[in-house]
Amino acid sequence: MAIGVFDSGVGGLTVHRELTRRFPDRDFVYLADQANAPYGGRGGEEIVDLTRIGCERLFEAGANVIVLACNTASAIALRRLQQTWVPEARARHGRPINVLGIIVPTIEAATGLPWTYEAERLGDKIEALEITGVFCTAATAMSRVYEIEIDKRREDLAVFSEACPGLAGLIELGAPAEELTVVVQDHVDALRRRIGRHPDKAILGCTHYEIVADLFAAALPDGTPVIHQPTAVADALDRYFARHPEYALGGSGRRDFLTSGQPGPQSDLVSQFWGAPLTFAAA
Ligand code: DGL
Repeated sequence: MAIGVFDSGVGGLTVHRELTRRFPDRDFVYLADQANAPYGGRGGEEIVDLTRIGCERLFEAGANVIVLACNTASAIALRRLQQTWVPEARARHGRPINVLGIIVPTIEAATGLPWTYEAERLGDKIEALEITGVFCTAATAMSRVYEIEIDKRREDLAVFSEACPGLAGLIELGAPAEELTVVVQDHVDALRRRIGRHPDKAILGCTHYEIVADLFAAALPDGTPVIHQPTAVADALDRYFARHPEYALGGSGRRDFLTSGQPGPQSDLVSQFWGAPLTFAAA
């Protein structure tokens, strides 16, 4: 049985790379829904349907656990699928299967608190607010998932989400570094203008952005801590396997990369990030 990793495109490779480092002997199958990328400007129902179709394809390819390495799908589709579709899919496939997201691990890393913790409402006004800036797709920003979930746990953290429409699409197409630098700088500046200062901490809330994490680090003030979503997700999966041994089956280190789009080599930007040319096969 394999670990499935799903994204609209190449962004989930950032999470996949960390997971394969952490679980080197497990089999992995990656699916990029490049025929429908980017997801960030799509409507909720469409994102739910596309995510369900992608997960079904990964279960057919032998996945037992799927990590939605996509903030947009995790914010919009995960809960619906877990509640209304996974039980039926589990019965149909006749084996333990599950779909996990990446927002919970990121919020645990950002707040330093386990997901089960919900802060009791404090009577006193909190004066010194620490500001977390979340760079994400329009759909993730509109869902307000980071604002809502961080606020439940840490009232001393203020959260500002900055939608970066178009950025995931540019990364997916392998846009040149000069163009990406300008776009990233514009979004960092836009967030600074909204807050009145730079955030104290940043979350790259779209897995595509991790591919250009160096550009975000350069655009933010020196030393701004950036939550590393791939590490947070790998830590969380480790804990999940400890609690659910039924999914922690062995493997032979197989790596499959599938796309619903045009099969073939990925862009130079992806090869640079990956450290070698990477080719996707037809899903
Ligand atoms: N990489 C995905 C995310 O984390 C999707 C980006 C998109 O398709 O717009 O949100």
